[in-house]
Amino acid sequence: MVDAAPASPLAPLAWQGGWQDGCLVLLDQALLPAHEQRLARNTSAQVVADIQRLAVRGAPLLGLAGAYGLVLAQREALAEGGSPAAQQAGFERRAAALAHARPTAVNLPRAVAAACDATHALAHDGAARAQALLAWAQALEQQEREACAAIARHGAQALGSARRVLTHCNAGALVTPGWGTALAPLYLLHARGEAVEAWADETRPLLQGLRLTAWELARAGIPCTVVAEGAAPGLMRQGRIQAAIVGADRICRNGDVVNKVGTYGVALACRAHGLPFLVAAPRSTFDPGMASGEAVVIEERAGDGDRYLLPGTRPQGVATCEPAFDVTPAALVSAYITELGSHGPGDLPEALFAPL
Ligand code: MRU
Repeated sequence: MVDAAPASPLAPLAWQGGWQDGCLVLLDQALLPAHEQRLARNTSAQVVADIQRLAVRGAPLLGLAGAYGLVLAQREALAEGGSPAAQQAGFERRAAALAHARPTAVNLPRAVAAACDATHALAHDGAARAQALLAWAQALEQQEREACAAIARHGAQALGSARRVLTHCNAGALVTPGWGTALAPLYLLHARGEAVEAWADETRPLLQGLRLTAWELARAGIPCTVVAEGAAPGLMRQGRIQAAIVGADRICRNGDVVNKVGTYGVALACRAHGLPFLVAAPRSTFDPGMASGEAVVIEERAGDGDRYLLPGTRPQGVATCEPAFDVTPAALVSAYITELGSHGPGDLPEALFAPL
């Protein structure tokens, strides 16, 4: 980590080429850790499908995939031809599909809406708009990379002397163009020679903690211990975990935090054991339009459980309930770590909710 804002060592997403001939290259996270495969995407529909099957995932990366997906959307609309109005309608239809590919992380619809607004004046000139959309996405990418570096510094400070740190899901170099959000402070402390020990909840049902967090930390040489979902409270009681830090998919005006299902339980356990519960997120994750967590649409998965239960373990006639996210009330958050600093609940700067 020598640069002021180092790039993700995992390069989970990269635009290659110009708007006319370029493509979006994605690391297929659905295949990790068994296969490290990159996909070159040339259509916005491919990007929508990749978002939906979690090949590209995590709030900041979803925002970037949406923004770059718009370049493809505009290029496709232009190639279809027809009147300027027809081309614009084609673009808008694709933009809507990108914005709604997954419902919970606000970064995705925010980035799509902001990029569309910023380039709307060029709607009559498809080529100029595609060029402008590419520049907009590249600027967002740089903004997110710089946010990661600032979050690393502020988070390292907020952790104080805590070195045995629990995280939930995956909020690292796989989901940002930098070194992550929740994991960024751990990377920084490690680079400073501090003896950091990460603890990762396995993260049911899709195992982002086991498959992704443990994988990326191991590659970086950071000791990481994976624990079964629900084990953390007992480990906290034994003093083996000193703090928790998680990412977020959406942070509401009142400070409620929407993140991977199971986060709320981690926050409750921290409160019960008097441990810090930190939430690390860039300002693209703050939702100016959402008063509290109550109205946030929580993605629900299939409901038949067969995507993740061990084959043959679900008794006949038994349903499963599969919310992908939960809401942690602001009152349980010790501090929000953003590119602007470390903020207490009830003390979120208005600048966090400013337009992207
Ligand atoms: O369903 P996923 O894997 O996209 O969920 C990801 C999370 O919940 C992350 O914690 C969140 O997006 C923050 S990523 C910096």
